[in-house]
Amino acid sequence: MKNNRVCELLGIKYPILQGAMAWIADGNLAGHVSKEGGLGIIAGGGMPVDILRNEIKKAKDITTNPFGVNLMLMMPNIEDQIDVCIEEGVKVVTTGAGNPGIYMEKLKSAGIKVIPVVASVALAKRMEKIGADAVVAEGMEAGGHIGEITTMALVPQIAAAVSIPVIAAGGIGGGKQFLAAFALGAEGVQVGTKFLVADECTVHDNYKEAIIKAKDRSTVATGNYTGHPVRVISNKLAKEMLEMEKRGATVEELEKMGTGKLRLAAVEGDVKEGSVMSGQVASMVTKRESVKDIIEGLMRDLETEKENLFKYFGK
Ligand SMILES: Cc1cc2nc3c(=O)[nH]c(=O)nc-3n(C[C@H](O)[C@H](O)[C@H](O)COP(=O)(O)O)c2cc1C
Repeated sequence: MKNNRVCELLGIKYPILQGAMAWIADGNLAGHVSKEGGLGIIAGGGMPVDILRNEIKKAKDITTNPFGVNLMLMMPNIEDQIDVCIEEGVKVVTTGAGNPGIYMEKLKSAGIKVIPVVASVALAKRMEKIGADAVVAEGMEAGGHIGEITTMALVPQIAAAVSIPVIAAGGIGGGKQFLAAFALGAEGVQVGTKFLVADECTVHDNYKEAIIKAKDRSTVATGNYTGHPVRVISNKLAKEMLEMEKRGATVEELEKMGTGKLRLAAVEGDVKEGSVMSGQVASMVTKRESVKDIIEGLMRDLETEKENLFKYFGK
């Protein structure tokens, strides 16, 4: 895409990032997304370093295009993970669960672009100040761990508050939302849920089916009560957790209940007792597709929607 700071910054063809998804977004998915012109991101959160290195190698076997690694900063092996990213020549790091400040100099002097995921204006401003190259502004429509503000309200406020590029995440399911993200001031999008059903995504088949079957009201946010809300498809586990929250269960009880549950759904395929993290946009994901078709479809739909708007507003 011409005149697009996200494409220029990351050296990619299309301003589409594939969001990190713990236990799901591996070197295979990330490699294929980057091969097709987006930015694939390996979910490094909690990965032992030898596995992370292996996933990076897998992505490199698929493409020479840049790809990224998502780092969860609270993880005990974070320093070792950063060393692996540097040694393997990873070009982009997205960060969550903490402040990348103390690692910024090390990452940047290795030539790595640092893109924190944020859910508030204050955090976006702080990240710009400490040298972030861009921010992902993630709204509460998104799947997984979420903030409190919608993409619609968050993105324009962050875009007005910082001068680095803003990438919108949460609720990007097609060309309409892609175009809307740009109208809100974003210069790129990060997509998670839609990539869950990609042929190259190794998540369990039952998980893919749950996404395809989902309706507009299928997701709920559990954990509001603990201050760590998570958007998931409503199932036995989600109902039990919401019930426990209502009963006033302790944070420890709730955390214990949630531990290991994403793996249970994503790897074992238990979509009743497991945590089926998904964005609200799952209802717009109606068929399995290749990564290539997802990316090209998004770009094609963006053009169509742009033309549709010209009909209303003129060029
Ligand atoms: C199953 C799942 C797991 C996720 N895990 C992570 C993660 O490990 N790190 C992270 O920064 N974001 C994570 N996310 C958020 C995505 O990277 C992305 O920002 C989000 O899915 C975008 O919104 P969407 O789901 O509406 O497309 C996860 C999302 C999903 C659906």
